[in-house]
Parts: sequence; structure tokens; C-alpha cells
Amino acid sequence: MTSTPRRYHITTFGCQMNKADSERMAGILEDMGFKWSQDPNGADLILYNTCTIRDNAEQKVYSYLGRQAKRKHKNPDLTLVVAGCVAQQEGEKILRRVPELDLVMGPQHANRLEDLLTQVFDGNQVIATEPIHIVEDITKPRRDSTVTAWVNIIYGCNEKCSYCVVPSVRGVEQSRTPEAIYAEMELLAKQGYKEVTLLGQNIDAYGRDLPGVTASGRHKHTLTDLLYQVHDIPGIERLRFATSHPRYFTERLIKACDELPKVCEHFHIPFQSGDNDVLKAMKRGYTHQKYRKIIDKIREYMPDASISADAIVGFPEETEEQFENTLKLVDDIGFDQLNTAAYSPRPGTPAALWEQQLSEEVKSDRLQRLNHLVAQKAAQRSQRYLGRIEEVLVEDQNPKDNSQVMGRTQGNRLTFCKGNIDELKGQLIKVEITEVRAFSLTGEAIVSICNA
Ligand code: SAH
Ligand code: SF4
Ligand code: F3S
Repeated sequence: MTSTPRRYHITTFGCQMNKADSERMAGILEDMGFKWSQDPNGADLILYNTCTIRDNAEQKVYSYLGRQAKRKHKNPDLTLVVAGCVAQQEGEKILRRVPELDLVMGPQHANRLEDLLTQVFDGNQVIATEPIHIVEDITKPRRDSTVTAWVNIIYGCNEKCSYCVVPSVRGVEQSRTPEAIYAEMELLAKQGYKEVTLLGQNIDAYGRDLPGVTASGRHKHTLTDLLYQVHDIPGIERLRFATSHPRYFTERLIKACDELPKVCEHFHIPFQSGDNDVLKAMKRGYTHQKYRKIIDKIREYMPDASISADAIVGFPEETEEQFENTLKLVDDIGFDQLNTAAYSPRPGTPAALWEQQLSEEVKSDRLQRLNHLVAQKAAQRSQRYLGRIEEVLVEDQNPKDNSQVMGRTQGNRLTFCKGNIDELKGQLIKVEITEVRAFSLTGEAIVSICNA
């Protein structure tokens, strides 16, 4: 007698860390014999990998959970799992809101999913949120892409930005060893992956928790050293890394990116605010002058480098004038892309307790004004691509136009061109850019060069 395989569905919220964790958890489920179900309502196991960076991210999770909890009343065999940052933040408290849950697990426990589910299938309601040393990743992730892959190099964050929940939900910094990272990347190359993005919440902190110092007294393992170490893995054509912290960003790293051809000239360095007093209240540990110097230095070495960042508007006590300093920084630097957000008070963070919280009206007005400027500047930055020939790594078909393929330039601009995905997937092709928009480009593939 053959039994039908159990089906699972994972919904992922939040950042690239969560996406990478979801891919590893999907790998574990497949190893356990589960099969993917595109339709969540057809799944026997539902996993929400959650984000709590802002209140709206958290609320979204509860509305999804509510719907599945109802389904469980009709179908008691349904297994309901909540993983990720809301799970870590709320722990047992989630059960008061959603008693139907079978498993609540923090991000540090992602690699332990099989073990935790075994306890669930034995009839237990399980909560796994205690801090642990992250088990080295021996799982085979089920990756969404066959072309680009994420590789965690450091988990957690030791910073104390006064608005941010990440350190409390992701725990202290834990770097993976260069050997483990190298081995994972070698395997990815063998599987045909062309691009790897190294991941960390504060990637510049890589290695400071690993043993060993050099003769000059610096940590033996740094992000810069790691880039040199993994650069020559045959088959991997492009390297990216995120997220950089201005406090720790070094000229040594800039030089390495300039020197190493596979490292894409794209830097994601959140500045959060363009005002020194706000930066101080945020406990970011740098001034806007220092931030500008970093960007100047990058552009000195790599004049065409793409720069992206994150910024928050409406931080407690932020005055109109201070907000205008953020606008000024954005205007002066000209980001290729900027993720913007209105400040959201988060439980357990110092800034949430400050008295002078700004009204939602002020926050959303500032957000709109900033977004308007961001789109304007991004459109200007896109202009430089017009008529140029760009190297594009083809990732997929354009879902809106099947005659087109899409991929990214080195600088991370989404680019479309006519082409057959079956032939071009995973290929680096040359594209002559004929149309530019604020955040994407269109062009024509140059076949003669691509076959050369
Ligand atoms: N480690 C990265 C990013 C962490 S979270 C860094 O240090 O920059 C991603 C982004 O979410 C942050 O860069 C910040 O812009 C935003 N963010 C974090 N906490 C927030 C909050 N309480 N309200 C609004 N935005 C927030
Ligand atoms: Fe949060 Fe700051 Fe850590 Fe980034 S560096 S994750 S903003 S605490
Ligand atoms: Fe969200 Fe957790 Fe990432 S709070 S942004 S999923 S680290």
C-alpha cells in the first residue's frame, strides 16, 4: 500500500535571512518526505516564517495564522508552525492568541526543524526559543532559484540600535567558519549556481567571534579575508554581500571589492538618518560626514558603483529640520535604491519608550516626501545605463511578458530583454540598454558577444 506524501507550504515574511532560513527548513521537510504544495489550503503542514521588524509585519502574521487556525478546527491533522522573529519575540505568548499552534520556533532553531517536528508528532505542543549555539548547516536547502543563492556567513547582531528588535530575536553574533562557507559555495558551484550573496545582519562583524588574530592585532578572519578566500571557486561568477554597517566599513574592504573581479560593484550600506543628533539617538555610532566619506571612497575606487541603503523617517523627536537633513543626504549621494520606512515602535527597544513619538500623519508625510525624492534620484541614476552594454545574469522569465527574460546587472538593476529562458537561464549575457526606468532597465541581448 502506498500512502500519499504529506504536503507542506511555507510562507516567508521579512529579510533575506528569513528567506535563507526558509530554504533550509524546506530542505529539511523534503528530506523528511514532505512535498511542496503551492496551495496552502492543500497542505498538511503550514509554516509561517515571520518578521517583526515593524508592527505591520507582525500584524500580517496574525491575520494569516487566524485563517489557518480555523482550518485546523475542521482538519485536526493539520500541523501549524510559526517560525522566525515573531515566534522568538512572543514565545509562549503566541499560544494565548493562537492556541492551535503545534510548534513555535525562533530563528536560531531553524536547522533543528526535524527534531522539533518529531516531538510534535509524538503529541507535544513545542516551544523552541531558548538561545542556542546554531547547529552547523548540514541540511540541503531547497533553494528558490537555480542561479543565485544565499549563504549565511554570520548569524545574529551585537549592535544596540535603539529602534531595532533584531538583536533580541536573532541573538548574538555567530560566525560560520571559512571552511564551512567555502564548502557550501563549492557545492553550489557544482550544482550550477552562478551568483552567491553572502549574508549577515551586520556582515562587517564577520569573524570577530572566531579565534585568531594577525601579527598586527586585527582579527584573523574578516569579511575582506573571506572574499579573497572564496573568490576563485570555479563556476561562481558573481559575489555579493549584505548588509554593511557604516560603523565598521573599511577601506581594506573597498580595495578588495575593486581588486576582485567577481565581487559586484554594489554596496548596500544603510545610513538610517542624515542627521547627527538622530544618528546618536539611534546609537548608530557614526556621523553623516563619516557616511559620506565612505561613499566618496567607494566612488574614488569604483566611480560606477551602485549604492543602496535603508533609511527610517519619523524617529522619536525627529524635527522637520532633522528630517530635511535626511533629504539632503539622499539628494547629495544619489542612491540607486533606498528602502525607506516610517519608524515603528518595537517592544523591548529603548526608543519605543521615549515620550516624543511622532504622529502617524507626520511620519507618513515624511515617508512620502522621501520616497518621491528617492524615485527621482533613482531615475537619474538609471540614466547612466542608457546606450551602455551591461552584463546581465539571466535568472528567470519576465512573469509579465513570456517573450522576455530577466536578470540583474552587476550593479543590481533588474533588466529585461527578449529571449528564450530555456536557453538563457543561468547565462551571463551582454545587453544593450535601450530603455531606463527608476528601478529597472530594458535592452537587447547582443548575441554575437554572448557567443564569443
Ligand atoms: N542590519 C541592517 C538592517 C536591519 S533591519 C542594518 O543595520 O542596517 C532592516 C531595516 O529595517 C533597517 O535598516 C531599518 O531601516 C529598518 N528598521 C529596523 N527597525 C525599524 C523600526 N523599528 N521602524 C522602522 N524601520 C525599522
Ligand atoms: Fe538592527 Fe542595528 Fe543590528 Fe542592523 S545593526 S540589525 S539596525 S541592531
Ligand atoms: Fe524581520 Fe527578523 Fe529579518 S525581524 S527583517 S525577519 S531579522
